Amino acid sequence: MGQNMLEVRHLCASFFTQKGEVKAVNDVSFEVPRGRIVGIVGESGCGKSMTVRSVMRLLKYPGKIVSGEVMLDGRDLMRLSGREMAAVRGAEVSMIFQDPMTSLNPVMKAGKQVSEAVRIHQHVSSEEAKRRTLEIFEAVGIPEPARRYDSYPHQLSGGLRQRVMIAMAMICRPKLLIADEPTTALDVTVEAQILRIMKNLCGTGTSVLIISHNLGVIAQICDYVYVMYAGRIVEQADTFTLFEHPMHPYTCGLLNAVASLRLGREKLDTIPGVVPNLLHLPEGCSFSLRCEKCSGICASKMPDLMKTGEGHMVRCHLSGKGGES
Ligand SMILES: Nc1ncnc2c1ncn2[C@@H]1O[C@H](COP(=O)(O)OP(=O)(O)O)[C@@H](O)[C@H]1O
Ligand SMILES: [Mg+2]
Repeated sequence: MGQNMLEVRHLCASFFTQKGEVKAVNDVSFEVPRGRIVGIVGESGCGKSMTVRSVMRLLKYPGKIVSGEVMLDGRDLMRLSGREMAAVRGAEVSMIFQDPMTSLNPVMKAGKQVSEAVRIHQHVSSEEAKRRTLEIFEAVGIPEPARRYDSYPHQLSGGLRQRVMIAMAMICRPKLLIADEPTTALDVTVEAQILRIMKNLCGTGTSVLIISHNLGVIAQICDYVYVMYAGRIVEQADTFTLFEHPMHPYTCGLLNAVASLRLGREKLDTIPGVVPNLLHLPEGCSFSLRCEKCSGICASKMPDLMKTGEGHMVRCHLSGKGGES
């Protein structure tokens, strides 16, 4: 049994549009060790959702996986038939999204949706499915589980809906839970509760991959973090190292934004500029156009991901050689 629940190697996924190939995921490699929580962070549009949808093989046309390997518990998901992959979804890998309203059926009672999922995947009687559903509602902190079981999604608050989604994702005890911006629609108190629930789930043996544009969220729960920019990993480190010794100017920019939020500053320290159009990436480092440290080589050559310390990698000409940034 390998040490990693999920191993993604050299994943490339693109949108094939009339204007050309949009390389949304560009040679991305990462791993989620067993029973650990790993985060991918980056601004909107940098390819996070594309990355995890590729893992689930759920890309929508004109998106397509171009190459790469996705190993789940030692099995290459890219080689499975469509039918085998469908069996993996829900049973071995579950996913929760930012807006539960789009993934819950609006005309079906919340409890019924979860117990149906159990019935389908685990072939148990409807009484047993209901019993397990009430149990997991309790576990994810849904008050008055029996009453909520009979509520329709629109009768629940955003926080409760997200708990129902987590219950649904967890009830079949997946090996891996993928959460794409699971708390973005919630206020910070509810966000903290949801993150705590996910952390507890991890204690039961499930590995978690969490996606967020917010480093603050990542800091609360992740063991290890990948920073993504314009379709590539630009820095990776354990959470402590990333926060204490960020090397990539982009990571530093994300950290400043979190810090100014926490300090309640009126004006957020955002990173100037926007994520470049993936159809027209600059010749050299993708971040060079926004980077205040940009120098000659940065504009002409894409830096490799270089090791700067134990478990710490950075894709920057200036920081990669051990210089402080
Ligand atoms: N249907 C589409 N056609 C072309 N490009 C797309 C399409 N959907 C998304 N993209 C591009 O793919 C990139 C990655 O998107 P996504 O993975 O959703 O980013 P994130 O989740 O990090 O916000 C974006 O820059 C976006 O412009
Ligand atoms: Mg996204």
